[in-house]
Amino acid sequence: MRKKVTIVGAGNVGATCAHWIAARDLADVVLIDIVEGMPQGKALDLAESGPVEGFDLTLSGTNDYADTAGSDICVITAGVPRRKDPNTGQFPSRDELVKTNQKIVSSVVKSFVEHSPDAILIIVSNPLDAMCHVALEESGFPPNRVIGQAGALDTARYKTFIAMELGVSVKDIHGLVLGGHGDTMVPLPHHTSVAGIPLLELMDRETLDGIIERTRKGGGEIVKLLGYSGYYAPAAASVSMVEAIVKDQKRVIPSAAYLQGEYGYTNLFIGVPCVLGANGIEKVIEMKLNDEEKAMLDHSADAVRSVVDVLGYN
Ligand code: NAI
Ligand code: 2OP
Repeated sequence: MRKKVTIVGAGNVGATCAHWIAARDLADVVLIDIVEGMPQGKALDLAESGPVEGFDLTLSGTNDYADTAGSDICVITAGVPRRKDPNTGQFPSRDELVKTNQKIVSSVVKSFVEHSPDAILIIVSNPLDAMCHVALEESGFPPNRVIGQAGALDTARYKTFIAMELGVSVKDIHGLVLGGHGDTMVPLPHHTSVAGIPLLELMDRETLDGIIERTRKGGGEIVKLLGYSGYYAPAAASVSMVEAIVKDQKRVIPSAAYLQGEYGYTNLFIGVPCVLGANGIEKVIEMKLNDEEKAMLDHSADAVRSVVDVLGYN
C-alpha cells in the first residue's frame, strides 16, 4: 500500500513539496490549507499532470483534517514567510515570526495528530528550530517522530556554491552544515570533500569564507531577489527527508533533532547529522568537532535557545 503524506500549507513550499513527491512517485498526497479552494485547485492541477508525467498517485486538496486521517508523514509548511512589509519596506527576521507561527503550528499539530497519531512530523515552518519545539510539545510524540528540515537545505546551498566556484558537479561535493537554521549555522569545511579530496586543498581560505558567509545568508539572498522566500530548494530538501522515511533509506541527512545530551545539549532542537528511515530519526550521529567548530555550534545553540525561550514553555 502506498504511503500517505499530508502537507499542511499549500503555499509556495507546500505545493512545491507536492510537486517533487509526485515527480518522484513517492506517496499519495493530501494538501491542506486554511484558504478554501486553493489546496483543492493545486492538487487537481498537479493530478492532471499525472498522465503526462506518468505517476499514479492520489493527490487531493482539502480544508478538513478528517481527510488527512491515517497519514504516515506530515510536512508542516503552514506559516507566515519572510515577506517585505508593504508599509515599512523592511523584511522581518526569522525570529520575529516566532509568535505568529507558534500559534499556527500549534493549532495545525493539534488538529493533525488527532487523526494520525502514529505519523512522523517534518517541520519546515520558521523559525525552524523553535517550531520543532512547538510540534514536540503539542503532539506529545516521541522525539524520533518530530524532525526539522533545515540542514538538508543549508547543506544543499553550501554544496551548490562550492560546485559553482570549482566548476565541478554538485554530485561530487560531500559535506554538511550543522546548527540552527539562521545566520549562526555551522558549515564544516574540514568535513567537506570533492570526490574525497579535502576541500581545503582546492580552495583558498578567503574564497571558502565567502562561501560560508553566502551559505549562512542563503535564505536572505533569495528573499532579496524575489521579495519572498525560496521554495524549490526548500521543498526538494524536505522531500529528500520524506523519501528517506518512505523508502526506509537510512540516509544521513543533517536535520533538526531533539537532543538529550548529544553534543552536550539537553532538551534542544538543533541541526545534527541524523540517520533517517522508517522510524523517523533512527540515530543521531555524534561526530568529532574541533574546538572552533564546537564553539560555533555552541553559539548557534545559544541563538536557538534565545528564540525557544520566547515560546514560553519553561
Ligand atoms: P506561503 O505563504 O507561500 O505558504 C504558507 C501557507 O500556509 C499559505 O498558503 C497559508 O494560507 C497557509 N497557512 C497559514 N496558516 C495556516 C493554518 N493555520 N493551517 C493551514 N495552512 C495555513 O509561505 P512559504 O513560502 O510556503 O513558506 C512557508 C513556511 O516555511 C514559512 O514559515 C517559511 O519561513 C518557512 N520556510 C522554511 C524553510 C526551511 O528551510 N525550514 C525554507 C523556506 C521556507
Ligand atoms: C530559507 O532559508 C527562509 O528559511 C528560509 O530560505
